[in-house]
Amino acid sequence: MKILVINGPNLNMLGIREPGIYGEQSYDALVKFIQDVCAERGVEVECFQSNHEGAIVDKIQAAYGVMDGIVINPAAYTHTSVAILDALKAVSIPAVEVHLSDVNQREEFRHISYAGMACEKTYAGHGFVGYRLAIEYLVEHYGK
Ligand code: DQA
Repeated sequence: MKILVINGPNLNMLGIREPGIYGEQSYDALVKFIQDVCAERGVEVECFQSNHEGAIVDKIQAAYGVMDGIVINPAAYTHTSVAILDALKAVSIPAVEVHLSDVNQREEFRHISYAGMACEKTYAGHGFVGYRLAIEYLVEHYGK
């Protein structure tokens, strides 16, 4: 099984950015965490991070016919991007949404998730562990 993990804007700043909310570990540490989970589960994984909405749309489109599952933390684009929602719907690859923080306990504008409307599940507020839960969900339901 091949999984694409997408992280949106400012997640490359993990460890520096608002550590009280997002934790003290870096983006590289997150990638290592994801790779370890996938190695344990025998999953092939590609991790992609971009600060650009169009680049994320391009990456989702390129996953068509190639990837079996998508784990996505669209970061701030969660709350604004119909383009990312439409891209996820276009490829219809099983997708799971992840947020490090518990977006529903934060500002009102973070309560809406467009991308989440195309995702089977959302894990929010579990830090790095949310990515593990998302990968495990995809393996359990779509693993081969
Ligand atoms: C986030 C939550 C978003 O509201 C925020 O814009 C982010 C990160 C999270 O992982 O908790 O950049 O997606």
